[in-house]
Amino acid sequence: MSKCNCKLTVELGDRSYPIYIGEGLYADAAYYRQHVRGRQVMVVTNETVAPLYLEQTLAALQGFDVSQVILPDGEVYKTLDVVNEIYTALLTKRYSRNCTLVALGGGVIGDMTGFAAATYQRGVNFIQVPTTLLSQVDSSVGGKTGVNHALGKNMIGAFHQPRAVLADTSTLNTLDDRQFASGLAEVIKYGLIAEADFFVWLEAEMDNLLSRDPMSLSTAVERSCRCKAAVVAADEREAGQRALLNLGHTFGHAIETGMGYGEWLHGEAVATGMCLAADLSWRLGRLPRTDLERACALIERAGLPVNAPEEMSEQQFLEVMAVDKKVLDGKLRLVLLDAIGQAMVTEDFDRTKLHETLSE
Ligand SMILES: NC(=O)c1ccc[n+]([C@@H]2O[C@H](COP(=O)([O-])OP(=O)(O)OC[C@H]3O[C@@H](n4cnc5c(N)ncnc54)[C@H](O)[C@@H]3O)[C@@H](O)[C@H]2O)c1
Ligand SMILES: [Zn+2]
Repeated sequence: MSKCNCKLTVELGDRSYPIYIGEGLYADAAYYRQHVRGRQVMVVTNETVAPLYLEQTLAALQGFDVSQVILPDGEVYKTLDVVNEIYTALLTKRYSRNCTLVALGGGVIGDMTGFAAATYQRGVNFIQVPTTLLSQVDSSVGGKTGVNHALGKNMIGAFHQPRAVLADTSTLNTLDDRQFASGLAEVIKYGLIAEADFFVWLEAEMDNLLSRDPMSLSTAVERSCRCKAAVVAADEREAGQRALLNLGHTFGHAIETGMGYGEWLHGEAVATGMCLAADLSWRLGRLPRTDLERACALIERAGLPVNAPEEMSEQQFLEVMAVDKKVLDGKLRLVLLDAIGQAMVTEDFDRTKLHETLSE
């Protein structure tokens, strides 16, 4: 028996779609019956997730013409070459334009499956079944799909919204502590950019979250998805407000790229990136010192790193940040904080302060 604690909607006109948050959802046929288009379904997952959740997913899809692709596990495999394996499976099985892909796994599987769905025969349906905290609160919602290139993370991609998101919090019980904390970084991000009261809730609830209390988890996923869904509905293509979701990400991507994909987890890099962004905001006279301290303290309590890797020089940061997507017309744009719960985007800031943040 599945239990749905909450259903949200990402409001995008005729492409609107539901996010279900609850327990046992991935194994419940009713959700697939409602959202699968056509008869042909391809479940895309990886070697780690398959032994845990594939069998029950396939059972829930009984009655459809179902097959599966099991990819190698890891950020290093988030490449066009690996997406090609999905195309090959689809073509070998003669899947038509009216098929549905199901992404069963974390953000890597979601981004690659979404990209395959965006491009196979110029676009087919897909359903997100995110199984990591990070993918439940972030990557499965909003329609950004894509892969990495040797010269830059997420540089190849497309916008393609799913038909539905099934965020099953019971799958988080098999996640290791490091991956779980990585997801918490994005949860904290929502508090920092837009939801001061959620940040206060997180300060009070962090111990329960770390022990994976089901109700705390469900609330954290719901509040996060609500925030992301609202931002995406207001600014699907990142013309403005959606850029706030990149708090910590410009610094974070520099760490991920500088250290080599997979060395630092995405959320770990973002956590440190948020501390750097908060530090810069404080140096620029925007963010009160107490807010900087609260932000870093909560990040640290979540078991996340707050300091940049020692191996990385300021020069390395600046080089990678220069090719980041957030650079517009050669100008470095950063998300900064004015308070906990209040972020803004700017390219107009004192470079000497950035130098101080990166060198200290
Ligand atoms: N599209 C977007 O808007 C968006 C937003 C944020 C992040 N991302 C992308 O998401 C990716 C990171 O996602 P992630 O943190 O989920 O990483 P991930 O997909 O690599 O998953 C982390 C690890 O957990 C394993 N795993 C997944 N579910 C599990 C479960 N229930 N139990 C045990 N192990 C499980 C995975 O196999 C993997 O080893 C990055 O590539 C990042 O660029 C995309
Ligand atoms: Zn992120």
